[in-house]
Amino acid sequence: MKAALIEVAPRDGFQPIGPFIPTEEKASFIAAAHAAGLRRIEVGSFVNPAAIPQLRDTAEVLRQTAHLDGLDAQVLVPNARGVALALEAGARHLVYVISASEAHNRANVRRDVETSIREYGDVVAGLPPGIRLRLNLATAFDCPFDGRMDQALVLDRLERILAHRPDVEVGLCDTTGRADPEHVFSLAAACLERRGAPTRWVFHGHDTYGLGLANVMAAWRAGIRAFDAAFGGLGGCPFAPGATGNTATEDVVWMFHRMGVETGVDLEALVRLAGRAAALPGASAGGRVRAAMTGGCG
Ligand code: COA
Ligand code: ZN
Repeated sequence: MKAALIEVAPRDGFQPIGPFIPTEEKASFIAAAHAAGLRRIEVGSFVNPAAIPQLRDTAEVLRQTAHLDGLDAQVLVPNARGVALALEAGARHLVYVISASEAHNRANVRRDVETSIREYGDVVAGLPPGIRLRLNLATAFDCPFDGRMDQALVLDRLERILAHRPDVEVGLCDTTGRADPEHVFSLAAACLERRGAPTRWVFHGHDTYGLGLANVMAAWRAGIRAFDAAFGGLGGCPFAPGATGNTATEDVVWMFHRMGVETGVDLEALVRLAGRAAALPGASAGGRVRAAMTGGCG
C-alpha cells in the first residue's frame, strides 16, 4: 500500500513566519525536501503581497527550483489575478482556495463564497491546456469564526464547485485543526461516495489540538490516499485566529512506515530538514518525531 504526501511547508508553513526567509533559502528547503523523496511540493502562493508578505517572492522560488528532477511544484491562488500571475511565472499546477464558510472566505480572500465560486468557474473555463488544477476547500470542517461546519452545506458547496469541472483534486482542509477523527471520517466517506473518479481527494490537516495524526488516520480509513503535511509541523493561516501548524510530515511518514505503508520518503533526511525548519527565526514548530529521533531535544 502507498500513501502520497504533498509537502506544504514552503507555502502553509512559511506564510505565518514574520522574518523574511531569503529566496535562496526557500529554494534550498525545497531542494532538500525533494532530495528526501518528496515530489509534490507547494512552493508558495500568488496572493496580495500585503496579505502575506513572506511569499512575495514565489515567482523567483519557482524559477530557482525548476531544475529539480520530477518536481511537481504547486502554488496557491485565491483569485483570477493570482492565476494570471502564476501562469506568467511558469506555474503548471494551481491550487485554488475557497472556504466552505462565509466568514472565513471573507476574512481570507475578501469575497463571499458565491463570488469565489463564480470566479473559480471563469478561471476553469479559461485555463490553458496542460495546467493541473486543485481546489482547496478551506474550513471544510470548522471555521474559526462560525465553529463546526454543517456537513450538508459543505457537500452542497462542493457539488457546486465540482459542477464547473469534476476532474480535479480536492483538498479537504481542516484549517483550524479543530476537526476530530469521526468528523474527518464522515466528510471523507461522504465525498468519496458521492464523487469517486474523476475527482481525487486529499486531506489537509493541522495539529492545533494534537489530533493531526488521528485525523490523517481517519481520512486513510475512509479511503483517502493523499495527504498534505509540513516538515517541522510549521504552518497556519494568518486569517484563522488560533490555528497552529500543519500535521508534521515526519510524523505522518513515521506512522505510515510503521503501518507498512510506503511513502517514498527518506525519514532520516526529512527529520534533518525538519530540524532546520524548526530553527528558522520566527518559526513555531510542532510534531513529535523530530524530537523522538534526535534524542528528545530536537
Ligand atoms: N496576487 C498579487 N497581488 C494581487 C492579487 C494576487 N492574487 N490579487 C490582488 N492583488 C493586488 C491588486 O493588484 C491590488 O494591488 P494594488 O493595491 O497595488 O493596486 C491589491 O492586491 C488589492 O487588490 P484587490 O483586488 O482589492 O484585492 P483585495 O485587497 O480585496 O484582496 C485577495 C483579495 C484575495 C488578493 C487577498 O485577500 C489575498 O491575497 N488573500 C490571500 C490570503 C492567503 O493567502 N491566505 C492564506 C492561504 S489560505
Ligand atoms: Zn492549512
